[in-house]
Amino acid sequence: MTAMSTYTTGAAAHDSAFVRACRRQPVPHTPVWFMRQAGRSLPEYREIRANVAMLDSCRRPELVTEITLQPVRRHGVDAAILFSDIVVPVAAAGVDLDIVPGTGPVVAEPVRTAADVERIQPIGRDDVPYVDEAVRLLVAELGDTPLIGFAGAPFTLASYLVEGGPSRTHAKTKAMMHGDPELWHALCGRLADVTLEFLRVQVAAGVSAVQLFDSWAGALSEADYRRFVMPHSARVLAGLVDAGVPRIHFGVGTGELLAAMGEAGADVVGVDWRTPLDVATRRIGPDKAVQGNLDPTLLFAPWPVVEAEVRRILAEGRAAPGHVFNLGHGVLPETDPEVLTRVVALVHEVSARPAERG
Ligand code: CP3
Repeated sequence: MTAMSTYTTGAAAHDSAFVRACRRQPVPHTPVWFMRQAGRSLPEYREIRANVAMLDSCRRPELVTEITLQPVRRHGVDAAILFSDIVVPVAAAGVDLDIVPGTGPVVAEPVRTAADVERIQPIGRDDVPYVDEAVRLLVAELGDTPLIGFAGAPFTLASYLVEGGPSRTHAKTKAMMHGDPELWHALCGRLADVTLEFLRVQVAAGVSAVQLFDSWAGALSEADYRRFVMPHSARVLAGLVDAGVPRIHFGVGTGELLAAMGEAGADVVGVDWRTPLDVATRRIGPDKAVQGNLDPTLLFAPWPVVEAEVRRILAEGRAAPGHVFNLGHGVLPETDPEVLTRVVALVHEVSARPAERG
């Protein structure tokens, strides 16, 4: 593909239903995609990943391209999300870590001291050439379908680094943030630099939107979020204003943090299933779109239950100035892919507004 054709196809993606909903512009139908749609429930994913370690697969542009396209082909979702992981840029920054199947990211030497923090080096395009290349291949392949780039927010990344792996309580992380705020802010400052650069590489290569995953921010009180976390996420999001692509900001269990996560500099706030979208919109305010929020476990319920939930969420989403339909968190690996395909068709059918697009 030439640079020219990449450019042409990208233009339509940048004005797709998904991007328009993020911008609170009229849409022909409510756009829908699923967090963790790439690689989880799909048999074709399991097959292609059979003999490739997770981090290795993220570093092979052709494989990334194929895995990213699989759910677009299968479900007809309105956006693709780059196949990668939130720890990919952290590994590129020099941290020794791995993604262990069934567990998640595991860090060889958890961050405890200033010397540990200093080992996290700034990154640039040349540290993640495979991401640059995968995005370019994808933008050319996807045509009018927008590609979402993503990164982990400083708090969620810091939690993995300080705990050494997944944590239910985030106890060591909170102990550092309160016990040694200087070290905490130094760590989050470095992670914010890495995250911002990782997102800039994706934007330069042609993504149509970015999502900043602060998946575990819901573990914090609003006061702690505002003091210890928000300044760093805000710096990442502010650093993307010039990029001109919508910025989605998401976390789980963040009902109490929705306003703050919007204030951090998002165009779209992701909402989990605990907060109805009309309530979320009142908390977030009229100048941001919302994304969500079907409980991923309800995809295991009989279809009439799923259908009623989808209709309820679409109705509640009308209270928002823009709505991107999604799950309240990622697709669970055991999910029947057929149900996801049916949800996409139902969202499109119920939300069709052909007259509104002038
Ligand atoms: O469609 C997509 O979302 C694909 C790309 C993607 C992955 N990870 C691939 C992946 C994205 C957007 C992520 C983000 C991610 N990674 C988050 C934020 C989203 C969220 O779910 O809250 C977080 C917290 C991580 C850290 C991480 N990496 C976890 C918790 C896990 C799962 C562990 C497991 O096996 O249950 C991973 C590994 C991972 N990332 C897998 C995939 C497809 C599984 C890897 C495997 O096959 O072993």
